[in-house]
Amino acid sequence: MKTYRILFVCLGNICRSPMAEYVFRSQAAEAGVAHRIETASSGTSGWHNGENMHNGTLKKLKQQGIDPSGFASSQVRQSDGSRYDFLIAMDDNNLAELERLFGRRPEQIFKLTDLIPESGYNHVPDPWYTGDFDETFRLVSDGSRALLRKLGLTP
Ligand code: 4NP
Repeated sequence: MKTYRILFVCLGNICRSPMAEYVFRSQAAEAGVAHRIETASSGTSGWHNGENMHNGTLKKLKQQGIDPSGFASSQVRQSDGSRYDFLIAMDDNNLAELERLFGRRPEQIFKLTDLIPESGYNHVPDPWYTGDFDETFRLVSDGSRALLRKLGLTP
C-alpha cells in the first residue's frame, strides 16, 4: 500500500508547522492509517534549531489530547525536496522560500489553506504575532483533515 511522506513548513518551526505535524499524525492514528504516513516539520529560517515548540503550541496540543513530546525544531534542507512527497507551507513567504529552494512544483509544494478554500483564509495566521493559537489550531486541524481526504486515507 502506498505511504506518503509529508513535511509541514513554516518560518520558525516552533508554532504552526509543529502543530500541523502533530495534529496530522494524531488524526491519521485516529483514522487507523498511521502506518500510511510519515510526517515531520521544519522551518525556513533555522532560527530555533534544536528548540522545543512554543509554549502556546504545546499547551494547545495538550488541551486537545495530543502528546507533543519528542520535538526539536529544524530547518528545511536541500534533500527534503526529494525525500518528501508533499511539502506544505503555512503562508506565502514559506511557499516562496520552498519554491526558491526546489522550484515551482504545485502538485508537491503548496499551502495548507489551498486545501480548505471554504475557510476564507489564504494562509495560516502566525500565532507568534497574533497570539491566537486557537485560530491557528482550527485551520491546521481542518487543513489536516482535508489532506487526509486528498490522499485518499479517509473518505
Ligand atoms: P512559526 O512562528 O513560523 O509558526 O514557527 C514563528 C516563530 C518564531 C519567529 C517567527 C515566527 N521568530 O521571529 O523567531
